[in-house]
Amino acid sequence: MKKAALLLLFFSGAYASAQSDIPSLFLREGKSLNGLWHYIIDPYETGYRNHRNWVPFDEKDYGKASAKPYYTNKKAMAPGDRVEYNFDTSPTLHVPGDWNAQDEKLLYYEGTLWYKTGFHYQKREGQRVFLHFGAANYEADVYLNGEKVGKHLGGFDPFSFDVSKQLKTGHNFLIVRVDNKRQQERVPNLTTDWWNYGGITREVRLVSVPQTFIADHFVRLSPKDEKEVLVDIDLLGEAIAGQNISIHIPEAGLSAEGKTNESGKITLRMPAKKLKRWYPKRPKLYEVTLICAGDTITDRVGFRTIKTNGADILLNGKSIFLRGISLHEEVPTRAGRAHSAEDADLLLGWAKELHCNFVRLAHYPHNVHMARKADEMGLLLWEEIPVYWGIDYENPEAYGQAVSQLKGLVQRDKNRASVIVWSVANETPETESRLAFLQNLKSTIRQIDDTRLISAALERDESPGKRIMTIPDPFAADVDLLSCNEYLGWYGSTPEICREVSWDLPSDKPFFVSEFGGGALYNYRGPKEQRWTEDYQTWLYKEQLDMLRKIPTLRGMTPWILCDFRSPRRNLPGIQDGWNRKGLISNSGFKKEAYFVLQDFYRQIAVEYDYKIRD
Ligand code: GCU
Repeated sequence: MKKAALLLLFFSGAYASAQSDIPSLFLREGKSLNGLWHYIIDPYETGYRNHRNWVPFDEKDYGKASAKPYYTNKKAMAPGDRVEYNFDTSPTLHVPGDWNAQDEKLLYYEGTLWYKTGFHYQKREGQRVFLHFGAANYEADVYLNGEKVGKHLGGFDPFSFDVSKQLKTGHNFLIVRVDNKRQQERVPNLTTDWWNYGGITREVRLVSVPQTFIADHFVRLSPKDEKEVLVDIDLLGEAIAGQNISIHIPEAGLSAEGKTNESGKITLRMPAKKLKRWYPKRPKLYEVTLICAGDTITDRVGFRTIKTNGADILLNGKSIFLRGISLHEEVPTRAGRAHSAEDADLLLGWAKELHCNFVRLAHYPHNVHMARKADEMGLLLWEEIPVYWGIDYENPEAYGQAVSQLKGLVQRDKNRASVIVWSVANETPETESRLAFLQNLKSTIRQIDDTRLISAALERDESPGKRIMTIPDPFAADVDLLSCNEYLGWYGSTPEICREVSWDLPSDKPFFVSEFGGGALYNYRGPKEQRWTEDYQTWLYKEQLDMLRKIPTLRGMTPWILCDFRSPRRNLPGIQDGWNRKGLISNSGFKKEAYFVLQDFYRQIAVEYDYKIRD
């Protein structure tokens, strides 16, 4: 499709974006629905589609009471009744949690699975109630008390539905259909180098709010004047215009107030001089309270600036080096999707032990606990959406899903000081349609957040025999941080190649290596030339670090990867067995020798880039 037509398609909004979320729901107490839910495996869509014409039962009458799937929690009441399913006598799965890691027979399952839970609720006068999901991979159809409340597409972004009408005082039942099949128009699409964990992978809660409530807020140092705090607040519900709103940062003796405009929005300003800046080595957070029309929410916010100046990355005006590591959202010891605060403590704790000040949360939005914990622990973050490899850049449906996931991520984490990079792609083909696709994603970010760096994991020119490394990608002009995945010494070469190459890079942008690495089976030792030994991986890291430290514009790296992780593409018996072995920590939690090579390097760099905190 010609670029102009494609751009028109994108700009015309001719794409369906999935159900989004209300960011303030994460800050509110709610009734947790986590626990054991009954489930039915449904590979032939018996519960959802008419087997004669494949049409979903609930779509032809969507919105009407008659719009019902076949799996509606019906029971055989009389001896002659024929009902060929029964949620309540079916087995159970833990929610949150992917299904793959919970039952051997579900390890490779890709398809539809139905969940059902029941709960008691006491409705309160004047309250609206939202059903809130941290995420479900990939397509979720949600039915409360037999009525469809909505559908969400996207495997890693939060979503919520107003269930005030369908919710009852007393007993309620909730049925959720989740389909994790990989599809061409999805994001990611048909192939990735990670496990396609399916299911309700994050928390489920019922959250009640007043009829007029604070839906969203954005609190940050103004990128134009860091002596000023900017606060954007959005209301939802009834009578949102002309509402008195106030913001308070008691520890700093700051407050401001005003009235919302006719759209229920307001921007407030406060002087920032009394606010201590947030740094990795002093992660100062302030309680920020917003009050409006009987609604109060409190967030914990760090104040810092992040900019580039030529080849330098400036955190609060001081040049820093991003001592990072990449990680998947997977706890190696149970090989399932990580989802809890405890999982975040474990993974980020390992990064801190590695002497990191930075973590790349690859390749999709991680759970909400990661950025909150990083704020508290003093780790900077790179967050991204799964625009990965060859998704369908010419398909408005794929674009709509990419935009929906990107908005969900930026809206959720825009108040987190730890997040300094939004990335819109990983190793994507350099076509015209992909360039337009990524440039539009960048504009989407800038419409919400103009305070952070934008990047993408690009690729070097891999023409055979090249010894001068360049990054000819046209999107390199659009990013603040020039990032590149390079596997010198692993793919197509062995580590000594690092001594033979030089890098030809622009001098006016920070250069960042978003991936390098090599595989090793923990405790497999031998001559360093023997691939898959720890000795080879150590050799590779030493050669890579010697090469990279010579690059004058290098300002950071996130080697691939903290832990071994599951991938259906990695099938070398006795070595991989379904695991990508590039981890510095094995899937049993043991550190490989290369872990200590990187840790030593970061100790040295930390001294070279140390800075004094003066405020
Ligand atoms: C790629 C990709 C990763 C993948 C890694 C590898 O660069 O970004 O998702 O796991 O290389 O080959 O191990």
